[in-house]
Amino acid sequence: MKRKLGLIFGGRSGEHEVSLQSARSIAGALDREKFELFLLAIDKQGNWYLADEADYLANADDPAKIALSVKEEQRIALVPRNGSNAIINLARGEERGTLDVAFPIVHGTFGEDGSLQGMMAMLNIPCVGADVMGSSLGMDKVLAKEVLIRAGVPVADYILAETNSKPDEIKKQVSQKFAYPVFVKPSCSGSSVGVVKVEGEEELIPAIEKALSYDRQVLIEESIVGREIECAILGNEELFASVPGEIIPRHSFYSYEAKYIDAEGAKLELPARISDAVKVRVQEMAKKTYKALACCGLARVDMFLTQDEQLILNEINTLPGFTRISMYPKLMDLSGIPYTELITRLADLAVVRHAQREQHLKNVLSAGSY
Ligand SMILES: Nc1ncnc2c1ncn2[C@@H]1O[C@H](COP(=O)(O)OP(=O)(O)O)[C@@H](O)[C@H]1O
Ligand SMILES: [Mg+2]
Repeated sequence: MKRKLGLIFGGRSGEHEVSLQSARSIAGALDREKFELFLLAIDKQGNWYLADEADYLANADDPAKIALSVKEEQRIALVPRNGSNAIINLARGEERGTLDVAFPIVHGTFGEDGSLQGMMAMLNIPCVGADVMGSSLGMDKVLAKEVLIRAGVPVADYILAETNSKPDEIKKQVSQKFAYPVFVKPSCSGSSVGVVKVEGEEELIPAIEKALSYDRQVLIEESIVGREIECAILGNEELFASVPGEIIPRHSFYSYEAKYIDAEGAKLELPARISDAVKVRVQEMAKKTYKALACCGLARVDMFLTQDEQLILNEINTLPGFTRISMYPKLMDLSGIPYTELITRLADLAVVRHAQREQHLKNVLSAGSY
């Protein structure tokens, strides 16, 4: 029997359009012998639709104008039902099926931060990728750093600023601890939104204020001079690490402009030109990071490689860009796992993980004799 796979995409985040592109790629490559596809689209207001595969995207070929094409009568709700779930069409009050597995490809807030993963857990739907804990840790740069420091993974040193921090004290701390430039970034964000390279003290407070408009916590980080190396991880307990890739930004850093606006903003070097010894260290560090941050399914782990060949962890992305030409799928492809097979393996990993959790729950319930 084919498994019913719910591809969830769009969403209320700055990365809505990136998500549409990822969804389009996945839908195009999904193994239809194994899966029946349900397109679950979330619009920018947060409404859910069961979209029609023949017509669910407008301007699909134009990354700047790509948009959802859905109709009011396609609106749905997902509801829990008898230990499973049901898709209900809201206009007709009619049931439209049950999902066997969900593949959320919603980046950023409400998609990558654990909220959607929690919703799937409540609906008892196996879900591709990290669960609530891994997703929220991966999204929060401050918490992730604290966990990584404990795990012995090197990260850039930082100072925390919050809404009630005093500007003069922050300036003093920064000048005592770091030399300019420093990087200022919101704790929970992505796509380099709010990330500023601060070249001198006079730019510090405006950068912090800007970052605080995106999140209540802001990091001021020492600047790491190094190459940006990324490694893709696949697995739950047994982890597979891809060959590493490199991002070579053509701007002063890998900014929002370099990522999305300037088509020539960055070059992907696949695989990264590094020695075998460094490659092994990158893969080990990526696995260690993944484990420390309680990830499962997949994640892309990003790090810096300094001139003296030190590795410093930058961040983890639990739902990385997933178009056919995005870094994560490309690295897996280069490492021997083609795109279609990758999607199948991710769905399998989600199902295995879910079954394990269900078993744990059953054991707990049968152990309880209250
Ligand atoms: N401490 C740092 N030193 C040097 N460059 C940095 C540092 N922090 C961030 N950057 C640059 O800014 C980019 C975006 O920062 P990152 O922490 O990855 O945020 P996001 O989650 O938005 O991608 C990085 O890819 C890198 O180019
Ligand atoms: Mg990044």
